[in-house]
Amino acid sequence: MRILSGIQPSGVPHIGNYFGMMRPAVELQTQGEAFLFIADYHALTTNPAPEELRERVLGVALDFLACGLDPEKTVFFRQSDVPQHTELTWILNTVTSVALLERAHSYKDKVAKGFVPNNGLFSYPVLMASDILIYQANIVPVGKDQKQHVEITRDIAIRFNSIYGDVLTIPQEKIREDVAVVPGLDGQKMSKSYNNTIPIFATEKAMRKTVMSIVTDSKGLEDKKDPDHCNIMILYKLFATPEQIREMEERYRAGNYGYGHAKQALFELLWLYFEPMRKRREELANNLDYVLKILDESGRKAREEAEKTMGKVRRAVGLR
Ligand code: ADP
Ligand code: TRP
Repeated sequence: MRILSGIQPSGVPHIGNYFGMMRPAVELQTQGEAFLFIADYHALTTNPAPEELRERVLGVALDFLACGLDPEKTVFFRQSDVPQHTELTWILNTVTSVALLERAHSYKDKVAKGFVPNNGLFSYPVLMASDILIYQANIVPVGKDQKQHVEITRDIAIRFNSIYGDVLTIPQEKIREDVAVVPGLDGQKMSKSYNNTIPIFATEKAMRKTVMSIVTDSKGLEDKKDPDHCNIMILYKLFATPEQIREMEERYRAGNYGYGHAKQALFELLWLYFEPMRKRREELANNLDYVLKILDESGRKAREEAEKTMGKVRRAVGLR
């Protein structure tokens, strides 16, 4: 079974990204033949500054490797190292109706947010279909927001196969329903766009300060508190053992335990939890040649796989 997913090189990762995407990706690498790529062609649709894009791609590579991605188990590569993605995109464009793309939520959302709708943004789902189909992937693990893109991929693959024969594998999305939405400092979904994140790789001082700014109700130190409706508690549960959770709940209910104490306890667990990853990231950042070698080597493997499908596709459509 082949599993494939892509990640956009965007911003500093936070603990919502970690539990919602990074950790699941790391867990999946033992469940099949795993491919994970950094979607730098996709990132171009919003025209980032070139230096910034280069830095972010490297940042994502460091983050994932630090969080346990094993390049021996997962083919972990840069999308743009496999230009065949764009070749297949063109061919898929010719079997994709404009109406299908006009229905894509993410395009409509971006336009509503004021992005200039360039053609890349409009045909984003076709590039994504190509990413998936070129590796003949069976399973595509994604967040809920990407479900429609995988459905579009299926529509495109079915249409292609109905015209040219059985060339492309029809993929299935795997939505991470079991992964809880991690709340941010203000209780809304943690998201870069809401400015309410706890970054994974912050300095001790910065991380402590961020944890201390979690919003709570205004109960005083002596007051009894409700552990079932508290933001600190929800975050604490991500890191604590069942025993630690029970103790914390008892302290909440007993009173004389302030939110400041709870935040301190949360900070300590958080800091400890990410310590090995922080160390690993630092080592990797000091050894960029090694990281680049992993990407290059994986890129070569990915190109070989992509080229196999492209050979079949070119023959099927009558090129060469
Ligand atoms: P952001 O909302 O911070 O911009 P992205 O949209 O780039 O994050 O999401 C990247 C990945 O992280 C997606 O797979 C998404 O499902 C996951 N993710 C983002 N925020 C959270 C969260 N608060 N809880 C769980 N998963 C999240
Ligand atoms: N569009 C996805 C996102 O924004 C990233 C992505 C690009 C992707 N190509 C993919 C995900 C192929 C899965 C499969 O999160």
